Parts: sequence; C-alpha cells; structure tokens
Amino acid sequence: MIRHLLLGLVLLLVPLGAQAEIQRMEAVRYARYGSPDVLKVVKVRAPDVRKGFVRVRVHAAGVNTIDWEIRKGGPFTGFPYPPPIIPGYGFSGVIDAVGKDVEGFAVGDAVFGMLPLATPGAYAEYVVVDVRAIAHKPDGVSHAIAAALPMPALTASQALFGTAKLKAGQTVLIHGAAGGVGHIALQLAKASGVRVIATGSTGRREFLLGLGADQFVDYTAQPFEQVVRDVDAVLDTVGGDTLERSYGVLKPGGIVVSLVEPPDEGELRRRGIRGEAILVAPSGKMLEVVARELAAGRLRVEIEQVFPLAAAATAHRRSESRRVRGRLVLSLLPDEASDAAGGASRP
Ligand SMILES: NC(=O)c1ccc[n+]([C@@H]2O[C@H](COP(=O)([O-])OP(=O)(O)OC[C@H]3O[C@@H](n4cnc5c(N)ncnc54)[C@H](OP(=O)(O)O)[C@@H]3O)[C@@H](O)[C@H]2O)c1
Repeated sequence: MIRHLLLGLVLLLVPLGAQAEIQRMEAVRYARYGSPDVLKVVKVRAPDVRKGFVRVRVHAAGVNTIDWEIRKGGPFTGFPYPPPIIPGYGFSGVIDAVGKDVEGFAVGDAVFGMLPLATPGAYAEYVVVDVRAIAHKPDGVSHAIAAALPMPALTASQALFGTAKLKAGQTVLIHGAAGGVGHIALQLAKASGVRVIATGSTGRREFLLGLGADQFVDYTAQPFEQVVRDVDAVLDTVGGDTLERSYGVLKPGGIVVSLVEPPDEGELRRRGIRGEAILVAPSGKMLEVVARELAAGRLRVEIEQVFPLAAAATAHRRSESRRVRGRLVLSLLPDEASDAAGGASRP
C-alpha cells in the first residue's frame, strides 16, 4: 500500500517538476542600484500570460540608454518601484502563449514591441506584453534589428510628429543624431519631407549624410549655434548645455522637444518659443507603420554590436560611453532571419 502511494507521489512529482522547470527562465536582473557589476544572470519564474496579453519567447532585446540610467539610480530616482529590476524595454521574439480576448496575434507569430516605462523586463527569456504594444515583425528582418527599433522609433515619432507636429518643408535640428534615437529620428523626419540638420562628432559625417541629413554639424569642432538658426524644431537627446544653447536657434514660435530634461520655462517665455520634455509610450500601431518602412527598405537600423545576454554588463559599459553608433542589442537565441533584407544594417 505504502509502496503504491510512494510510486503515485513520484509519478505526480515528475510532471510537476518538468512543468516547474518550464516555468522558470533566465534573466539579467539587479538587486540594487549601482555600476554595471550589479547586473547578474539569474533564474526566475517566467511571467504568466493574462487577458489581453501575450507571452513572447524573447530572441533579442535592445539596450537602451534609459536601461542604465535607471540602473544607476540617478535621474530616475522617481522610478515607481525599487530593485530587484529586470531591465529592458525593446524586444523581438515569438509568441508562445496567448491570453483571453486577444485578436490578430497567435502562437508562433514573430513580433516586436516595447514594454511600458514603469515595467521593464526585456533582458529575459520571456516577456508578457499587452497586445496593443506589439506589431508583427516583418519577414527577412532579424530579431536583433527589430529589438533595437521600438524605443528609438516610438520616441522619435512621438517627439517629432506627436509633440513638435513637424510638417514637410520645415526644418529640425537633431542633437545626437548618430545615437539610438537620433539616427531613427533623422530618417523618419526625412521620410516626411522635413529638412534635417544633424549634430555628431567628427567621424559621424559620412554616416549621417548617408542617412539623408541635409546638413551635418560637428559639435566637437564648433558650437552648433554658430551655423544653425531659425529652425522650426530641435530634438534634444543630450540635455544640459546643449539644451540651453538650443533656445537661441529656434525661430519665434518654434519648439524644443527634450528627451532628457524639462526646458527652462523662463527662457521659453522670454524668447517666444515653446518647449516640452516627453516620455515615450508603447504603441503597436506606430510600430506597424515603422515595420512597413523597415520591410520596404526605407529605414536603416544601425546596430553597433550584438552581445550575448550574459554580457549585459559589458553592453551597459559601452552604452554609458554615450558614443554608440546606433544601438546595442542582447541576443538570447540565434537569429535565423536574413539581415540583408528590410533595409537593415548589421548584424
Ligand atoms: N524621455 C524619453 O521617453 C526617452 C526615450 C528614449 C531616450 N531617452 C533619453 O534620450 C537620450 C538619448 O538616448 P539615445 O538612446 O539616443 O542615446 P545614445 O544612443 O546613447 O546616444 C549616443 C549618441 O549621442 C551623441 N552625443 C553625445 N554627446 C553629444 C553632444 N554633446 N552633442 C551631440 N551628440 C552627442 C553621440 O554622438 P557622437 O558619437 O557623434 O559623439 C552618440 O552617437 C538618453 O538620455 C535617453 O535616456 C528618453
């Protein structure tokens, strides 16, 4: 009798154990704010899918500047909850579970998207995400490219068109145009008929002119305000002194949109210009539009380097240099898709 009971228990535990194993995932997480050394590879419970959400097996995650800015506990001390935090917003992967009331997406679909700012978690094997935050990944575009894109593309679209309301024929000055947000903003602005003046360091000239910039300003060689004036909008990805010197290059009524800090209200009033600081929000609909541009080869996503998940700390160190060309990406699964298609650059 007891033997039978024990056997039954063993048989019961085997499938439970197997299931428990499937429910665990590898992730990069930090238990306290600090240097890149706080990033550790851990095994944690995989998130469960719920109504209106899908679970995605992540193939690649974008390394966004904001990931390490939060990790340092610096300007984002108002972040809504304390560590432990799994960083990461942009991801690309394949749906492995679908919640109730989800339409338009099914298990096996390749998708990409962005998690909300308050709930990062893309440096992990699985994310659970609201279907309204994802779009189908175009065939022939790698997961690495698709993971790099969401935060830069959404930030750029929302800043240039949502806030600055730029129209064809107007001129925008884009600071940090070689960076993750900047190089996508440059291309989206050009695609809408907007004239672009791009700032970058000396070695970025060919890259930025190649992406379509109408004018390149080497910010290391001369103050941009010596050669730029009367622009309709400034996209500030740098802040500080760069933001302060930007007020003077706007035409009356022009607008500075900062991704970094609120513009000075006194300066705006005194000069008769406008200014706003924005926070990016997820949008699957916007990503669908971007995906079409990518698939048609009209958008180039520059990836400086792909790192394995376990090298997240190295990727953060590189990103913290603020000298990355385009974006860095963490790869969680080998990417089978062709990168030659879709206007994507390496890798
Ligand atoms: N508010 C939001 O919702 C939101 C969303 C996304 C990003 N952000 C923030 O926006 C900022 C930019 O993000 P990102 O991901 O694009 O950064 P990034 O990729 O790290 O930007 C790096 C680029 O910045 C350029 N750069 C550095 N200093 C510069 C200067 N003084 N003048 C001109 N260019 C300069 C570098 O160009 P060179 O190599 O040519 O020097 C480099 O290519 C970050 O602070 C990020 O947190 C905010």
